[in-house]
Amino acid sequence: MSHDLFEAARTAMGFAYAPYSKFPVGAAIRADDGKVYAGANIENISFPQGWCAEPTAIGAMIMGGAKKIVEIAVIAEKLPLCPPCGGCRQKIAEFASPSTRIYLCDETGVKETMTINELLPHSFKTEVIG
Ligand code: THU
Repeated sequence: MSHDLFEAARTAMGFAYAPYSKFPVGAAIRADDGKVYAGANIENISFPQGWCAEPTAIGAMIMGGAKKIVEIAVIAEKLPLCPPCGGCRQKIAEFASPSTRIYLCDETGVKETMTINELLPHSFKTEVIG
């Protein structure tokens, strides 16, 4: 992974709106158009209404006109490694291929690399609705 993806995730983390959890998270996607799309978690006083960093980045990617996640970096200020939550795994899988790499970062860089298939084997998919 090139350093710019890590830097983008770390910069995005600085934009987190996390006054309730005080747990800022940043995510950065390199998409199929070669561009980097980043996002942070955005919380809400009605707690379930908040959302994670990964869907913010996915939203930026889609609105930027890109279609697929080539690789994605995730960083959390207060965790040495922040594996995407279950819901985010499914959201990433929607725009990834099984071998899409996920980089778990700390403040110095990438600490662990895994694929979405390793993080979410047997993800929900069906031909009935898709
Ligand atoms: N969070 C993320 O942004 N991504 C994850 O994959 C795990 C959790 C956020 C949601 C919430 O704002 C805070 O971290 C604490 O759960």
